[in-house]
Amino acid sequence: MSWWRHAVIYQVYVWSFADSDGDGVGDLRGVRSRLPYLRELGVDAIWLNPFYPSPQADNGYDVADHRDVDPRFGVLADADDLIREAHTLGLRIIIDLVPNHTSSEHPWFRAALAAPPGAAVRGRYLFRDGRGPHGDRPPNNWTSRFGGRAWTRAPDGQWYLHLFAPQQPDLDWTADEVRAEFQDILRYWLDRGVDGFRIDVAHGLAKDPQMPDVSGEPGSTHPHWDLDEVHEVYRDWRRILDGYPGDRVFVGEIWVQTTERLALYLRPDELHTAFNFAFLTAPWEATALRTAVDDSLRVLERVGAPATWVLSNHDVVRHVTRYGGGEIGLRRARAATLLMLALPGSAYLYQGEELGLPEVEDLPDAVRRDPVFQRTGGADPGRDGCRVPLPWSADSASLGFGPGPESWLPQPPAWAALTAERQNSDPASTLNLYRAALAVRRDLTGDLTWLRTPDGVLAFRRGPGFLCVVNVGDAPIRVPPEARTAATLLTSSSRVHGDELPGATAAWYRC
Ligand code: GLC
Repeated sequence: MSWWRHAVIYQVYVWSFADSDGDGVGDLRGVRSRLPYLRELGVDAIWLNPFYPSPQADNGYDVADHRDVDPRFGVLADADDLIREAHTLGLRIIIDLVPNHTSSEHPWFRAALAAPPGAAVRGRYLFRDGRGPHGDRPPNNWTSRFGGRAWTRAPDGQWYLHLFAPQQPDLDWTADEVRAEFQDILRYWLDRGVDGFRIDVAHGLAKDPQMPDVSGEPGSTHPHWDLDEVHEVYRDWRRILDGYPGDRVFVGEIWVQTTERLALYLRPDELHTAFNFAFLTAPWEATALRTAVDDSLRVLERVGAPATWVLSNHDVVRHVTRYGGGEIGLRRARAATLLMLALPGSAYLYQGEELGLPEVEDLPDAVRRDPVFQRTGGADPGRDGCRVPLPWSADSASLGFGPGPESWLPQPPAWAALTAERQNSDPASTLNLYRAALAVRRDLTGDLTWLRTPDGVLAFRRGPGFLCVVNVGDAPIRVPPEARTAATLLTSSSRVHGDELPGATAAWYRC
């Protein structure tokens, strides 16, 4: 079976993982130095957030050169070394590809701005005349995902589209040159040995050429999300990937309305996998979780794609906090992790969740970098709270993140108790729970079969010999009969006594 059908992939947010040179920002050498930790954790692959040269208006999702490394993170040779060393340790590398937009500092966009309206080099982006007699109103009502309008006016009066920040102009994917360029970028990194790509905003590339207003009418098709034309791009890309040896993979970041729409991207000649945000966005509630699991398995099976599961990433509030924060949030998060890791398919872990890190909700405004914070005037605090650098040890002022005096976002003092070093020696730590679960998971096979359970409890088998029971409620329950006498407890998210499963607890049994 292909490795990506059941892999556990660990997301490294390069800014915040490990800093080798003490400038307070993570880097590729830092990542390399921690590869043994990831191997010991028991993951199969690493997904690296963008490390390309970038003005960092959106922490690297504004790419100025797709074929190099930003000096903050190292040099190209560091990427090569990281890929090589990861492979030596048996870890695969997935990199982030950002095709919807470039940085406004990309040579293409600079050339577009320097050229007059109508010039061919503007055709790589989406420049349009404005509305009104003087063209001083934006071409339509589209808004930026980061707040405010999606159009910015160039000095000569035309407007350009940016579904994200103004420093992230959208490319025009009807232009042959754009398509050819990205095919070449794919080959460039495949030749350097990467095992796959995470595709940023994969549902956003195609736009309705008429650029109509977003109507918001129920049932109306959206003019820039999830248009059918986008699928052509992925068919072309799949042909390229399939020309390479080594079972390489695409994973799409695809936010769509239904699992049915998601499945279209995963037809056999398109992408291999996509993040399953229905599971991530489900509340901590048994029926909602079960529905998310069932829907995903049912729909994806039809196209032959594996399900993927994810609870946290660099764009969302960490799941400890989403599930209530504090002690109860951590209990639920640990239980949710055991639920996720018992499901068939592949799973994504976001750096720091294995330490049980919560969202940092009290960052001072002055240190926040996320454009979401700026563009909403602070109404939305943005995503910095899940991007705080990892606490590794008591070794330095930045808790082992790097040798320098500080990290780019301050770590809460309470994180001194959550370092990887401390948790390593505590058998009950979240880190050791993840390690134990990942070790058991390696041998998990077989389809999922639900057991009948009372409200608030989820229980399923994988194959004949493995059972996962999750008590989603807060009060203790008696485990189902299948988990009693003949069963052996393999691991649990909190301490289990006999046949009683405490509230917000998941347990795995061999039976
Ligand atoms: C994706 C990324 C996010 C980024 C956005 C724009 O959603 O995950 O971090 O801000 O795309 O590239």
